[in-house]
Amino acid sequence: MRIILLGTPGGGKGTQAKLICDHLSIPHISTGDIFRTKIKEGSPEGKEISEYMQKGQLVPDRLTISLVEERLKKDDCQKGFLLDGFPRDENQAKALDLILKKKEEHIDFVFLIDVPKEIIVDRILGRRVCPKCGESYHIKYNPPKIEGKCDVCGTALIHRADDQEDIILDRLTIYSQTTAPILDFYQEKGILHKIQGDGSIQDIFSQISEIVDANK
Ligand code: AP5
Ligand code: MG
Repeated sequence: MRIILLGTPGGGKGTQAKLICDHLSIPHISTGDIFRTKIKEGSPEGKEISEYMQKGQLVPDRLTISLVEERLKKDDCQKGFLLDGFPRDENQAKALDLILKKKEEHIDFVFLIDVPKEIIVDRILGRRVCPKCGESYHIKYNPPKIEGKCDVCGTALIHRADDQEDIILDRLTIYSQTTAPILDFYQEKGILHKIQGDGSIQDIFSQISEIVDANK
């Protein structure tokens, strides 16, 4: 099963991706996570990526598309994958089509997690992440067992560098200008499913898993 998760920053893509990937035993490929790992490694490429991410801007396609292409060649993607945060513009969507065409593969489902703007800001401002293992929490909606500490590795939780209110607003603007237009691209292919994203984490997962399970 090959899935794309689309939606605004902070809309719950990463949260749902984890649940869906556990459910279907497929790898979770998040371009945001790949970039954060590159930044941590401190390579020149990571430094360049960081300049864009810190401002909430899209990382250039010349870096993004080749990283995704390499990732999709790995063995664990043979029986499917979930892309979280890619593609983010028309150019990336067309590039993905070409990458998959070469492998005689296609996307089965594109899920748009549709969340109103006032909810998004609340979700992002309450998010805390583990700088060591990447686990993500929300202080109200998905709190860690011990306040401020990661359930998985016990590390002190932090705010993501781009989770500040002014950067969030820039990320939302970029989303509506560049990512929202690719919804038509997938609508025309007949594989776009709009998921109401203002419910609980479990409600949203139920909506998605019902569709996926009916087509397994
Ligand atoms: P990326 O890391 O992908 O960030 P994003 O798209 O801005 O999305 P987020 O990760 O912020 O949110 P999410 O939808 O995953 O929500 P989450 O599940 O965490 O990208 C970061 C940057 O990298 C970009 O700005 C860009 O610079 C660069 N980049 C990435 N991909 C790129 C690409 N393809 N091309 C170019 N540049 C790229 O949930 C948010 C919070 O809400 C959490 O605290 C969670 O616990 C909580 N929550 C989730 N669901 C619910 C719910 N139903 N109810 C209550 N709380 C909930
Ligand atoms: Mg995410």
